[in-house]
Amino acid sequence: MHYAALIIISLLTTVSASYQNPLIYEHSFAGTKGAKRESSSYKFKWPIHKVAIIGAGGGGLVAYREFKRMGYQVRIFERDSVPGGNWHYTDEVPQNAPVPNLDPSEADFRPHIPPSDVLLPYEENFVGIEPGKVLNARREHRAPKPIWHSLTSTAPKHNQELRELPWPDHTPLTLTQNHLQRYVRTFASLHEINSNDNSPNTSYNTRVERVDKRFDVNGREVGWTLTLRKFIETGLTSYKIQWWTEDFDAIVVASGRFSAPNLPRVPGLSQWAQLYPKLISHSRQYRRPEEFANQTVLVVGGSVSGTEIAEDISGKAKKVFLSVRPHEDSVFRETRNMYLSRVPNNVSIVPEIKFFHPLPIRPTDSSSGIQSGEIELINGTLLRGFDKVIFATGFRYAFPFLPQYHDVSLRPNETIPSASGRPQPLVTDGTHIRSLHLDLFYIEEPTIGFINMNLGIESFMYSEFAASAIAKVWAGQAKLPSTKQMWELHWKRVRDAGGAYGGQFMYLGSAKEAAMVRYIVGWLNEDAVKYGGHQIDGPSENRHQVFLVWVVAQFPDYNVKSNQSAFSVSGGSFGLGVEEQRRLVETWTAGRDDW
Ligand SMILES: Cc1cc2nc3c(=O)[nH]c(=O)nc-3n(C[C@H](O)[C@H](O)[C@H](O)COP(=O)(O)OP(=O)(O)OC[C@H]3O[C@@H](n4cnc5c(N)ncnc54)[C@H](O)[C@@H]3O)c2cc1C
Ligand SMILES: NC(=O)c1ccc[n+]([C@@H]2O[C@H](COP(=O)([O-])OP(=O)(O)OC[C@H]3O[C@@H](n4cnc5c(N)ncnc54)[C@H](OP(=O)(O)O)[C@@H]3O)[C@@H](O)[C@H]2O)c1
Repeated sequence: MHYAALIIISLLTTVSASYQNPLIYEHSFAGTKGAKRESSSYKFKWPIHKVAIIGAGGGGLVAYREFKRMGYQVRIFERDSVPGGNWHYTDEVPQNAPVPNLDPSEADFRPHIPPSDVLLPYEENFVGIEPGKVLNARREHRAPKPIWHSLTSTAPKHNQELRELPWPDHTPLTLTQNHLQRYVRTFASLHEINSNDNSPNTSYNTRVERVDKRFDVNGREVGWTLTLRKFIETGLTSYKIQWWTEDFDAIVVASGRFSAPNLPRVPGLSQWAQLYPKLISHSRQYRRPEEFANQTVLVVGGSVSGTEIAEDISGKAKKVFLSVRPHEDSVFRETRNMYLSRVPNNVSIVPEIKFFHPLPIRPTDSSSGIQSGEIELINGTLLRGFDKVIFATGFRYAFPFLPQYHDVSLRPNETIPSASGRPQPLVTDGTHIRSLHLDLFYIEEPTIGFINMNLGIESFMYSEFAASAIAKVWAGQAKLPSTKQMWELHWKRVRDAGGAYGGQFMYLGSAKEAAMVRYIVGWLNEDAVKYGGHQIDGPSENRHQVFLVWVVAQFPDYNVKSNQSAFSVSGGSFGLGVEEQRRLVETWTAGRDDW
């Protein structure tokens, strides 16, 4: 093995074994003595046997497996027609992103609740409808996923594997969206919950519209009621909608994070989007480069979507511009530099947009679209002649089925005054989700659990531990701290984040993710000894080594040495130059047919 490879592997091993300073949780909660923890632990208000899972992406399916094997009654609700979540690629494109952004409680979808005077279950039939409108109704219900045809994954296959389903040997290291689509579906089939398994435990084409607290005749809280809406296509020109409710003791929210688009507040943009809705799009609508052939395109946003879409269309478009804004945080700045290092030379990188100059209200030549429109950048440069603009400006947290826990009026440094008696919300401006313990349990009501809400995680691996923690806590096999302690930990975390919530509040990244998973494993296994239940194994460490080499191979022109914080899992001090990195990759790839 090459010397450089040895250095890197030994660094990886040493660092992952000695990393002792993870999230605040580890020293504050885990440090409390067992007996004290037991007496002060959170007491659930009602027993939990029946669980609803919202979403049949990888996270929801893993949660299903975990809850099922622990003996819960489980139902999984999925708005789409098949399992797969984000990885269900279709040529069908989501609707235009609203400009300006909608309130987060409606940014993913606006819930359709049946008329208040009808008895449930209730059905509405729509017949003699234009075929296009039937497709639109289906599209609005299922929400086509935000991935494109040529998309390849941001990590090697080792980092996207579920325990009981190893990738077949011949699978290439870099996965396409199609590999991942088939993988998640296979996992669903393995657990007999694919859409064609007709499992009584699943309901596909079913959107969760509302989740409401349920009370008994004495006014005591006893669980949750879900209002559900099923879309059934009955013909080319007809469909029907069914509404009903189901009661559960607890809810797992595995509804994903990439459905509610974010568009920046740039003056003048609303007018452009109103006049030319087909020419202004969001990255969630991007599918294939052909539609941009011979066009001049402005892509906005220098993260993964922006740089990859710019790269994808650069071979077909006449000219591509990529508008990027600087980031003050070093982790994000370095990661951005890495992504930008892959942007082809024929893409011009330009600064942030300041202003979309008004377009003529009644264009004399409407075929010219936005071409005559001027876009002013923050450095004063004026650009014009664009055929299309794509906003790859990210997504927002949004849970339309829980509007009671959204409060857009709160600023990043504001919370609900405790004297008011009102619950702290989960979502404010959509940049983050707050009020969670371990990013898993809603502190105000820990019978709502969340899977995969963090940024910068390996969601396949992470969801196994998140699901395990939620399932064990609800079964009484692991304990949460008291509500007061959970809030204390939360406020400490907010203080550590600079006293305000923001876009990076949910960022874990490799090192914190590893620490979080280690903490969860230690906590669950320690509590299993006391309260019963099975022990769990930690994740395979081999993933880290493959990941690092893979990153080096993917970004050959970028020196990972300067990107220490983004790859902190590897110790942050590779000391390797570009040439050494290349040799490292050659050593690793030599003789391997799975690379
Ligand atoms: C462009 C893009 C590329 C990505 N690339 C990678 C990658 O390479 N590797 C990686 O690990 N991750 C990647 N991700 C992250 C990706 O989201 C995760 O891999 C994974 O999909 C997370 O699984 P999940 O189950 O948590 O969420 P999702 O896969 O998003 O699944 C959520 C499910 O919930 C359903 N749902 C939502 N609301 C409701 C409702 N109200 N009622 C019923 N059902 C509902 C949705 O239809 C969906 O099926 C990427 C994300 C994007 C946007
Ligand atoms: N191949 C793949 O697997 C693949 C491809 C695409 C996406 N993804 C994943 O999908 C998720 C979402 O990624 P994403 O790239 O869509 O969203 P993202 O990571 O949230 O990035 C959005 C970007 O838009 C920028 N932005 C916002 N407003 C802007 C403005 N006015 N001008 C210029 N830039 C602006 C943001 O800058 P600030 O940071 O300054 O706000 C940020 O860099 C990530 O988890 C990513 O890993 C994976």
